[in-house]
Amino acid sequence: MALTLDKDWWRQAVIYQIYPRSFKDSNGDGIGDIKGVTSKISYLQSLHIDAIWLSPFYPSALADGGYDVDDYRDVDPKLGTLAEFDEMLEKLHEVGIHVFVDIVPNHSSNRHRWFQEAINSEPGSAARNRYIFRDGKGADGELPPTNWISHFAPSAWSHESTQGGKHGQWYCHLFAPEQPDFNWDNEEVGEDFLTTLKFWADRGVDGFRIDVAHMLKKDLSNPLKDVPEPVTLDSNIAGNEILFDRDEVHEVYKKWRELFNRYNPPRVAVAEAWGKPESIHRYASPEELGQAFNFDLLLADFQADNYREIVSRNFAAATQYGSSSTWVFSNHDQVRPATRYALPLGSDLIAFKNSNGASSSYDLIRGTNAAIAAQMFALALPGCTYIYQGEELGLPEVLDIAEDQIQDPQYLRNHKIDKGRDGCRVPLPWTTSGTSFGFGSGGAHLPQPDNFGQYSVEAESGVTGSPLEIFRRAIALRKELMCAEELTWHETNNPELLHLSRPNGWHCVTNFGRTNVALPKNLTFIHSSQPLAGGELPGASTVWLQA
Ligand code: BGC
Repeated sequence: MALTLDKDWWRQAVIYQIYPRSFKDSNGDGIGDIKGVTSKISYLQSLHIDAIWLSPFYPSALADGGYDVDDYRDVDPKLGTLAEFDEMLEKLHEVGIHVFVDIVPNHSSNRHRWFQEAINSEPGSAARNRYIFRDGKGADGELPPTNWISHFAPSAWSHESTQGGKHGQWYCHLFAPEQPDFNWDNEEVGEDFLTTLKFWADRGVDGFRIDVAHMLKKDLSNPLKDVPEPVTLDSNIAGNEILFDRDEVHEVYKKWRELFNRYNPPRVAVAEAWGKPESIHRYASPEELGQAFNFDLLLADFQADNYREIVSRNFAAATQYGSSSTWVFSNHDQVRPATRYALPLGSDLIAFKNSNGASSSYDLIRGTNAAIAAQMFALALPGCTYIYQGEELGLPEVLDIAEDQIQDPQYLRNHKIDKGRDGCRVPLPWTTSGTSFGFGSGGAHLPQPDNFGQYSVEAESGVTGSPLEIFRRAIALRKELMCAEELTWHETNNPELLHLSRPNGWHCVTNFGRTNVALPKNLTFIHSSQPLAGGELPGASTVWLQA
């Protein structure tokens, strides 16, 4: 199947996220790689997806799973070569699958050539001005310049001596100390990212996922200002606009759009922007990136009224801004949905993770059913759906990773407050048994539980009713049923039931409750996330019907 030249191909696409280090290892070093992705193209094709998004595969010391980039225009030798990337891209294109790569513009790694130059240069030098270096407070500059906090460490400032610098200044990092923030007021930084985008777009890359897109521009006027509530990085907090979601950041994306539109079809991008609900859609406008992740469903409980309100609000906003809606339940930063929905409503996820999954009311059958029902609900909506590797297998979070095997800086550096994100990054099981369940011949870089084989591609392939087969059929059917980006809600007189339809008579009914419910009359069955029970829709399931 040739790659479509339709400029709007992405508006109602299904995009599958690959976390390359945990997808498939081709050379037995325990780390997934580019050739591993290439070797699984027929699997990707069998999912009927339109595109993959690859999390970072660039050279990196993995201080933050690859989001600490040493060189934006190369492949990490542990994962392959540029030639292998090109081969993968070509083969994916041959079967009609588009490719997004991840761009990390807020920060580089401390091993990036520019940061090394900066650390070895004088205060006030052009090299330092690509990052955010400042003198400290206190009589001898021994205190950080502001109260800004980091995601992965108490302070967003580290003393340059920790990196071998000899001039007594501090540098800013809103994430790990190994992830120094760029100074986006410096035009050279912007120019360099345009070069990077062009580098990948010229190779044929179709789109970009923009890491923490709302953080690039900060109020860097001197003296720097403290934030009013340094206890949180939540950009909804008043006063945090010193650091997040500033108007100027949109000028950056307008320039990127000019570049994207020079290609045929125009390149696409999706913003990871944790901004105020009313401002996220600006990033997604046609003058900027085109799409922004909508994390509202990901953060919501599995409840009908929640879902309806979120869908209506986001659909309206996307329409207003001329973008398409996005629906997301999962990614490499979040507890897997089968596990989230296995817990009682309103549970404290961090406490659950920190207890290694100890909870008497953990119901994984219900959780898995709800996760698949939720995705089938989203797949029936207008807009673009993102699926994270393993979601199609109904994979649960791995909850018992031993402390000495944890890789995530969120845990290690953040006072061990949150066990972190490794539980959703455990390498995929491909086979029911064997070394690392078919991930690779040399084991897996994060430990897989003994029962992982039961969720493997081998175990689920061809098995009626397995999560994989339900997903495959749903995504294939969705392609046939695709129609205008419109939806109509139908009243159900049942607070646990949502019923919507699309203009071509495609209906979707989701039962968020626990008891079976009758189906609407005069509609023909197409597909369901669980078998119907005596003609009725069981709890935690979705059915598609045709008028
Ligand atoms: C990525 C994370 C990463 C952070 C810093 C995020 O939003 O998804 O995995 O730790 O950005 O780059």
